[in-house]
Amino acid sequence: MSGNRCTGGNGSQRWRMAKGPAERTLAEGRAAGAESGRVQPVDTPVASPAPTAHLPLSRRALLAGGFWSGLGLAMVGLLGAPLSFLWPRKVTGFGGEVTVPAAKIPAPGSEPVHIPEGKFYLANLVPSQEESPGGLLALWHKCPHLGCSVPWRPDFEYGGSKGWYRCPCHGSTYTRGAGLLVFGPAPRPLDTMAIELKGNGDVVVNTGAITKGGKDNPLRAVPYPGTAARIAPGNERPREA
Ligand code: FES
Repeated sequence: MSGNRCTGGNGSQRWRMAKGPAERTLAEGRAAGAESGRVQPVDTPVASPAPTAHLPLSRRALLAGGFWSGLGLAMVGLLGAPLSFLWPRKVTGFGGEVTVPAAKIPAPGSEPVHIPEGKFYLANLVPSQEESPGGLLALWHKCPHLGCSVPWRPDFEYGGSKGWYRCPCHGSTYTRGAGLLVFGPAPRPLDTMAIELKGNGDVVVNTGAITKGGKDNPLRAVPYPGTAARIAPGNERPREA
């Protein structure tokens, strides 16, 4: 109860008691009747339903909206994963491009550098090493025989010299520069990967572009600027008399 209004009910039927200034209550009527000796008419409060709040959308529109929203979500769920899978992304690591910063590139003629994330060794051959014009070679570290990972063995001695790739599975042995096969059951030299030089001295190896190893491995070396100037100490070529 608030002022001269009263509300109540169960929501669908909300009632309001209204009484104007000229209306009289039952007590007032009785009091007036007692004074005059007659029964005085009393206005009975009339309950009227509160106005029903109308929704801005019809029930049909709401149902249709719910249906299409649900259908849209279902389509996103069904097609989202395949589309995400098919969407082209730049692949990095093995199978994609791997950048070797200039600071990590081996000096010409020095030991190869292993790049595990790309599964390759980066070798820098001096000109005429293994009959190569000199430059960079990316050698896949997978043995062409049965696929074992081939480690670089700087202390392994063979044919009177140290430093070979030597497969731990069946002993296939490859040269330090171009991965040429010199011993073992492997059918060919180590496979090579495509190399691209960047202007800042970095090298990008495309580990998805693999060429089967062959006797021409030394000729696949990519000339690298500064090869002659960056010969590692102890790897200088003997001067011809
Ligand atoms: Fe390398 Fe057999 S897997 S020699």
